[in-house]
Amino acid sequence: MAQEVTLTGVERTFADDEIIVSKTDTTGRIMYANDVFLRLASMTEAETIGAPHSVIRHPHMPRSVFKLLWDTIAAGHEIFAYVVNRSKNGDHYWVLAHVTPSFDSTGQIVGYHSNRRTADRDTLENVIQPLYKQLLDIEQSHPNRKEGMNSAFKTLVGILEEKGVSYDEFIFSLQR
Ligand SMILES: Cc1cc2nc3c(=O)[nH]c(=O)nc-3n(C[C@H](O)[C@H](O)[C@H](O)COP(=O)(O)O)c2cc1C
Repeated sequence: MAQEVTLTGVERTFADDEIIVSKTDTTGRIMYANDVFLRLASMTEAETIGAPHSVIRHPHMPRSVFKLLWDTIAAGHEIFAYVVNRSKNGDHYWVLAHVTPSFDSTGQIVGYHSNRRTADRDTLENVIQPLYKQLLDIEQSHPNRKEGMNSAFKTLVGILEEKGVSYDEFIFSLQR
C-alpha cells in the first residue's frame, strides 16, 4: 500500500544471538510475535496480533522482493531474504529473514513462520542495498504499481541469469 510514512533515518540493531520471530496466517496476518519483534518494531502485542505483516513495511523495500517471497512460500518452499523493516516511530532495522510455510497433516499450508537474524553489514552495503535501490528505482519509474513490480522482478531474474545462479544460490553466496 503506498502511504506516507515517517522515517527518522535512525537504524536500530539487535544482538547476534537474538531472533526476531513472527507467525502469520495464510494471508500474512500476524498471529504471534516474540518480545524481540515487539521491541524492534516498538509495538505492543495488542497492536501487533491480528495486524497485516505490512504494518512494519519500510517504503524502501522493493515490492518485487515481496512478490518473490510470497510466490516462494505460497508454493510450499522456504526462502531467505534480506529485509529492512520500519519501527513504529520511523526508525529502521535490517534483518536476514528465513520464512517457511507451516503445513497441517494433509499437507495444506496453514500459515507461515519467519525467523530473522542480524544481517552482515558488508553484504548489506555492497550487495543488498544497491540491488534494492536498483529494483525500487525501476518500480518507482512506472506510473502503474503492478507494472513497476513486474518490471523490477524481471530485472532481478535477469541479474540472477547473468550470474548463472538461482536466487537461493545467490543468497547463500552472500553468507559469511
Ligand atoms: C511469515 C511472514 C513474515 C513477513 N515478514 C515481513 C517483514 O518482516 N516485513 C515486511 O515488510 N513484510 C513482511 N512480510 C510480507 C508482508 O506480508 C507484505 O507482503 C509486505 O509487507 C508488502 O506489503 P504490501 O504488499 O502491502 O506493500 C511477511 C510475510 C510473511 C508471510
